[in-house]
Amino acid sequence: MGRVLLLSVLVAAAYAQTALDDGFLSTGERAVGEAEGRDAGEPLLDFHYHDHEQMTRFLRAISARYPALTALYSIGKSVQGRDLWVMVVSASPYEHMIGKPDVKYVANIHGNEAVGRELLLHLIQHFVTSYDSDPYIKWLLDNTRIHLMPSMNPDGFAISKEGQCDTIHGRANARRYDLNRNFPDYFKQNTKQPQPETDAVKEWISKIQFVLSGSLHGGALVASYPFDNTPNARMCRSSVLCSVFQSHAHSPSIAPDDDVFRHLSLIYSKNHAKMGRGVSCKSGSPRFENGITNGAAWYPLTGGMQDYNYLWHGCMEITLEISCCKYPPAHELPKYWQDNKQSMIKYLAEAHRGAHGFVMDENGNPVERAAVRVKGRDVVYHTTKYGEFWRILLPGTYRVDVSAEGYIPQEVEFIVIDSHPTLLNVTLHSAKGYVAQGRPKGRRPGPMRIGPYPSTSSTTPRTTALTDTIVFKE
Ligand SMILES: *[C@@H]1O[C@H](CO)[C@@H](O)[C@H](O)[C@H]1NC(C)=O
Ligand SMILES: [Zn+2]
Repeated sequence: MGRVLLLSVLVAAAYAQTALDDGFLSTGERAVGEAEGRDAGEPLLDFHYHDHEQMTRFLRAISARYPALTALYSIGKSVQGRDLWVMVVSASPYEHMIGKPDVKYVANIHGNEAVGRELLLHLIQHFVTSYDSDPYIKWLLDNTRIHLMPSMNPDGFAISKEGQCDTIHGRANARRYDLNRNFPDYFKQNTKQPQPETDAVKEWISKIQFVLSGSLHGGALVASYPFDNTPNARMCRSSVLCSVFQSHAHSPSIAPDDDVFRHLSLIYSKNHAKMGRGVSCKSGSPRFENGITNGAAWYPLTGGMQDYNYLWHGCMEITLEISCCKYPPAHELPKYWQDNKQSMIKYLAEAHRGAHGFVMDENGNPVERAAVRVKGRDVVYHTTKYGEFWRILLPGTYRVDVSAEGYIPQEVEFIVIDSHPTLLNVTLHSAKGYVAQGRPKGRRPGPMRIGPYPSTSSTTPRTTALTDTIVFKE
């Protein structure tokens, strides 16, 4: 029976190498031969914490047992050589479904914040075991490709201790870098040395157009949304006093899509058993109205993952603080699962809100990397190689500006309603010799420029420098 299992895994791996268009799966499946399944039955997940080996075994067993619904891949390795696993759960695990969104959760970016790590394993199990019996899960997996990364910091987790609620032991990676301070930052130059875990995530999200994402943390009970950093942080570079003042300023840093981010955060908090009540974790710690907060209003930080997802890649990510205790005793895990289950599912379904469609040329060919700008939201999204774009928006009337080098820009008005997404196909007509504004010929566009915080001439072309090192990276 071990042989039968192994065979099916190898078939899956071979299929993956030819069919997976993200370019990741072949890496992840390299070591899959040792997959350890249980006899024919379900790979059962206990409510305890799983170390890296146990987690790896579980993921392999699931991918062997559910080859039509899952695909396991690794986006790279941690400092100490542990695989950074991602499990795709979808009716089309190996291939992007053209016109349908890819979404993700990333957990355990702080190694000692362990609940999210276990919850993602339970979410995987829930998805695969409910697909045939739960019509909502079936709809979700038929129409969404869900990428789940249980641990972005397996090295930090390895030294963390169950029961430690408030320490920082295990928070950082093996080189003592806080991975959620390690991303390029729009507002302030991030001088921290990029770490392997962060580089892997940057490459991952540059290859797959994720529409929606959640980053799972612990130590509080709140959904926190962009921006985490604030334009004022720039001025604090040389002044200690200024930095001190800044960290107590608690002023929100409002993103162009503030309404959408608040909505997404409320979807999580209101579907959660407790978060939406906005009760503080303990006396002295803050309470958040409706269980949501703007990141910078809580405390500003530089190099966070959510601002990066949004500004560099048009992926709406929020930070989900799901447990007051960072690493609670395992016997509490069933409660956390029950508290978060509905939130985790409903949140991902929000990728189907707003407008989506294709940008094509006059011959019906897709236009890749066309710039899609919704008026009044000064942030640029780009089309994929299939010409697809997604824009999560609340009900209303919008105007969108679509432009690409060599084409006449198009402005289109459209309506978004609550019950289903608006399909918006845009045809661009070629304009011989036309060069899109702000896009020098032959260069890929850099991080999205947002207003009202333009880089003025006095603050040197920092974003250009970041563009060169990060976005142009192969
Ligand atoms: C929009 O474009 C896509 C891709 O070319 C096509 O499959 C779809 O039928 C189009 N829909 C409409 C309503 O034009
Ligand atoms: Zn954290």
